[in-house]
Amino acid sequence: MSNKTFYITTPIYYVNDVPHLGHVYTTVAADAASRFMRSSGRSVMFLTGIDEHGQKVEQAARDRGLSPQEHCDEMVVRFQRLWRRFNISNDDFIRTTEKRHEAIVQHFLQVLYDRGDIYRSTYNGWYCVPDERFWTEKDLLDGKCPDCGRKVVEIKESNYFFRMGKYQGWLSEHIKANPDFIQPETRQNEMLGFLRKPLGDLCISRPKSRLHWGVEVPFDHEYVTYVWFDALINYVTGAGFNVDEDRFTPLWENSTHLIGKDILTTHTIYWPTMLHGIGLPPPNRVFAHGWWTVEGRKMSKSTGNVVEPNLLLDVYGADSVRYFVLREVPFGLDGDFSHSALVRRINSDLANDLGNLLQRSLGMLGKYREGIIPAPKGGKDSGDLEKDLASRATVTLKDLSAHMESLAFDRALKSIWDLIGAANKYIDSAAPWALAKEGDDGKLDTVLFTIFEAIRQVAVMVSPFMPETGEKMFRQIGIADKHELKSITSLDRWGGIAGGTRTFRGPALFPRIDEIPDVPAAGPAEKDNSSEAEVSKGVEPTMDDNLITIDDFAKVQLVTGKVLEAENVPKSKKLIRLRVDTGEERQIVAGIAENYTPEDLVGMNIAVVANLKPATLMGVESRGMLLAASDDDGIHLFTFNGEVKPGTRIK
Ligand code: ME8
Repeated sequence: MSNKTFYITTPIYYVNDVPHLGHVYTTVAADAASRFMRSSGRSVMFLTGIDEHGQKVEQAARDRGLSPQEHCDEMVVRFQRLWRRFNISNDDFIRTTEKRHEAIVQHFLQVLYDRGDIYRSTYNGWYCVPDERFWTEKDLLDGKCPDCGRKVVEIKESNYFFRMGKYQGWLSEHIKANPDFIQPETRQNEMLGFLRKPLGDLCISRPKSRLHWGVEVPFDHEYVTYVWFDALINYVTGAGFNVDEDRFTPLWENSTHLIGKDILTTHTIYWPTMLHGIGLPPPNRVFAHGWWTVEGRKMSKSTGNVVEPNLLLDVYGADSVRYFVLREVPFGLDGDFSHSALVRRINSDLANDLGNLLQRSLGMLGKYREGIIPAPKGGKDSGDLEKDLASRATVTLKDLSAHMESLAFDRALKSIWDLIGAANKYIDSAAPWALAKEGDDGKLDTVLFTIFEAIRQVAVMVSPFMPETGEKMFRQIGIADKHELKSITSLDRWGGIAGGTRTFRGPALFPRIDEIPDVPAAGPAEKDNSSEAEVSKGVEPTMDDNLITIDDFAKVQLVTGKVLEAENVPKSKKLIRLRVDTGEERQIVAGIAENYTPEDLVGMNIAVVANLKPATLMGVESRGMLLAASDDDGIHLFTFNGEVKPGTRIK
């Protein structure tokens, strides 16, 4: 790309249903690309949003007894909340019911109408409601929709048409002259094949007698706009077309649309001809990724295997899911989602390779240098091993940048993991433990410095893919507030991390998962269309049904406590045994070992449920429970600032 601007979009998702893994995939991919480009110093605009008009959405609203707008206002929350949970860094979120968008849709229609590119005619053909697509008799396969195989209904009505067919020759030439326009290459060939048959005109209106829920056609108030004609325009609305041309032009010249292969025709046939009709160039690149199946089967509500992203987040956290979908399958090919494949990736790539690199390094630094990164002795890259690792990092950065440019996320991650492998190997070869034993302090300093510089570089590189993990790593290696060391641009030289930096050893980045969790699929179809509160059941509890009285609350004896002693329960990964002063001394067993070390806990002022029935956990008696909150980062104990007398009642 010629300049530094990077404009990336996802499809705008239909709000006739709740978001699922497929939506997550495209959005996470666009987010990783955006974060990488921002970190590389590019000026980024990342747009996602929702597609609110059309028959499907109108029908979904009717089924729920709501107006379409009420329905959309509820659905948008689910998408936006999910994107927050996945740390999606979109710069804008577009809704097709927004005035700014309706104005641009009407502008398109008026310009094309005034130019004679829109005409009125009677339509006689077949309509697929779920796909919102018209088909002619000869398009049908066994009398069904050729795209989705579902039944079609016959329709005869007067409508407006866009002279798409007239641009067929131009479009074929454009695709041939711009081999990067449609990616991957197989999709380009598919579309060139499609264009070898005559291209018809596109019906772009719906009579209000049949459908109300759409953007009104400016030159005929009896009609609304066909949902696809409306939806595609979001990409230019969001970039400021016809409102702020200085902003729009560079964005449009550097635009990438990420889509699933299901919507290739609309994006590479309808859309470029619409743009050409009003005098705009096609987007720079349309990349169609592959399709996810689940445990080998098409994801569908009737099969009951729709992957509910909120439940994935609850069980695995955002970064593991982000990593999995981008690493597991080359972008552009189909993939299969399964919990066993996800757990395998977590255990091998995230826990073993990445997590272990950080843990073992912090362990050694704690042991040999009290957790402080030493300055290297005799220059920053004194020995051959150090030089090799530094040049490996340079090569990785080059490969990574090239792969991200071509949206090859799996290869990008693979190159980072090669660097992680090289760093782990460097530790084995440089053997800091042997240097410590020999008392070779100078060399040991250089080796420890080199390890932590490698970890810094790895943290920077993984951040676009796993932003929470990147931040956790920055925190643990002591550079959370050193922004100049956290961007891709900071990797142009080796040795950015400073001698004297104090590290903070934290819990393991990715605890191993020993058993495949039992994660339910999204609920049955009728549940998916229920209200916001109902759908969030099992995800975020709602409060209203379960109100208690003050007397109920008073039954719980909450008191302050001070931790006197703590130790891991033998053979348990999660449990810690605590001796706590709650006015009286008591033993409490808590499942917090993945987030706290016994040393962290001693002296802490905590909150305790004092009148809980005693329980025995792994053979150790527990009298009471600690209060804590748990989120994607793990467990956070409830603590107090300053000293509070142990045993004080909390009310
Ligand atoms: O088509 N695997 O919205 P939509 C991979 N509103 N990706 C998948 C997927 C799967 N199994 N299922 C869905 C629409 N996707 C229109 C778009 S754009 C101007 C209008 C992803 O809610 C993929 O990105 O049906 C696909 O293109 C998109 O969701 C379709 O979302």
